[in-house]
Amino acid sequence: MTTSPAATHAAAMGAPDDLDHCPLMPTYGPPQVMFVRGEGTRLWDREGKSYLDFLAGLAVVGVGHANPEVADAIAEQARTLVHVSNLFGSEPGWEVARTLDRLLGGGGQVFFANSGAEANECALKLARKWGGHGRHVVVSAWSSFHGRTLATLHATGQPQKHEAFQPLPEGFRHVPFGDIDELERCLDPTVAAVLLEPVQGEGGVNPASTEYLQAVRALCDERNILFMLDEVQTGLGRTGSWFAHQQLGVVPDVVTMAKALGNGMPIGACWARREIAAAFVPGDHATTYGGQPLAASAAKAVLAIMERDDLPGRAASAGAYLHRELADLPRVAEVRGMGLLLAAELEEGTDARIVQAEALANGLVINAVSPTALRFAPPLTVSGEEIDEALAILGRVLASQPLPDVAP
Ligand SMILES: Cc1ncc(COP(=O)(O)O)c(C=O)c1O
Repeated sequence: MTTSPAATHAAAMGAPDDLDHCPLMPTYGPPQVMFVRGEGTRLWDREGKSYLDFLAGLAVVGVGHANPEVADAIAEQARTLVHVSNLFGSEPGWEVARTLDRLLGGGGQVFFANSGAEANECALKLARKWGGHGRHVVVSAWSSFHGRTLATLHATGQPQKHEAFQPLPEGFRHVPFGDIDELERCLDPTVAAVLLEPVQGEGGVNPASTEYLQAVRALCDERNILFMLDEVQTGLGRTGSWFAHQQLGVVPDVVTMAKALGNGMPIGACWARREIAAAFVPGDHATTYGGQPLAASAAKAVLAIMERDDLPGRAASAGAYLHRELADLPRVAEVRGMGLLLAAELEEGTDARIVQAEALANGLVINAVSPTALRFAPPLTVSGEEIDEALAILGRVLASQPLPDVAP
């Protein structure tokens, strides 16, 4: 019998034998389900059981699983040209960059990366290059999440994630999210940029208020500091507009995105106003795959579908419905978020991790974003019937949770 963590991990993944030779590093917990197929909002496991996916691969699959138009675009591009390197141009990437710039109001330029962390890494390097020597500090918020590379990990305002990896790159400071006075106190001449999420996703689905973001913008203008928004999770329609900041009355200098851009094909992007992007010169930043034709062809199809079908508008209306209905479920204390990025805070004594596991066993994929809150981020194409079906499953699971002991 084998007992190592790797063996436990492999066993949970259904490895048939030789359990001490799991091929994956133990960075993730053992998977609860192995999914083999998807279509729209549905997933199927190896046994053929069907699930409603209200997580969409962590806010990635915006236009639904196995979207036929995205699949056709990828297949067509795979038969035409997969990769040429950024020493040369390729059409899909240029087109996607133009579309993103238009959706962001114009006047900017794009750097393509392969993930959210890499999109942020570009923003961090751009801030340093733009700031110049001695002006390199980036201020972000407690409870934020910006990625797992060493720099983006330090930007991430979660000290428990830092501990094992010290020393982290120098040049990061954190302030309480929503506290403009603390931010003001923290801004000295070494600060090049402020980096925030309009809605903190991994931190628990915490939306920033319009007043706070507008005050941050004004402060950045006053001090000549870059205002950078991480829209890796909130971007591309998820919150009910193309980018969440467009509902919050602010125009940032730099915007990062990833997740929904490729609907699962790895692609991220950092957009910056032209005069800021001009701080970079050839050789300052690069990545072999960034914006390569295959990933860009998926992004091009995703953006075309989202525009044609007004998926940001759909996220707004479906999100408003889901928000209302979630608030009426048993054991739900509060619902927060924007569009189709929502969290239900559960009443004291109800464990979100148990609810998540029981919902999964009953065919609904959701995520316990904290021990007390459930996160919902279905595909933006989710139908009203699918929302009702998910609510029915969740309502039954919540109603079956034991009530906390009441003190006599
Ligand atoms: C706001 C935000 N930024 C950055 C990242 C990191 O993205 P990736 O996992 O693609 O590196 C995430 C991932 O969850 C995120 O939610």
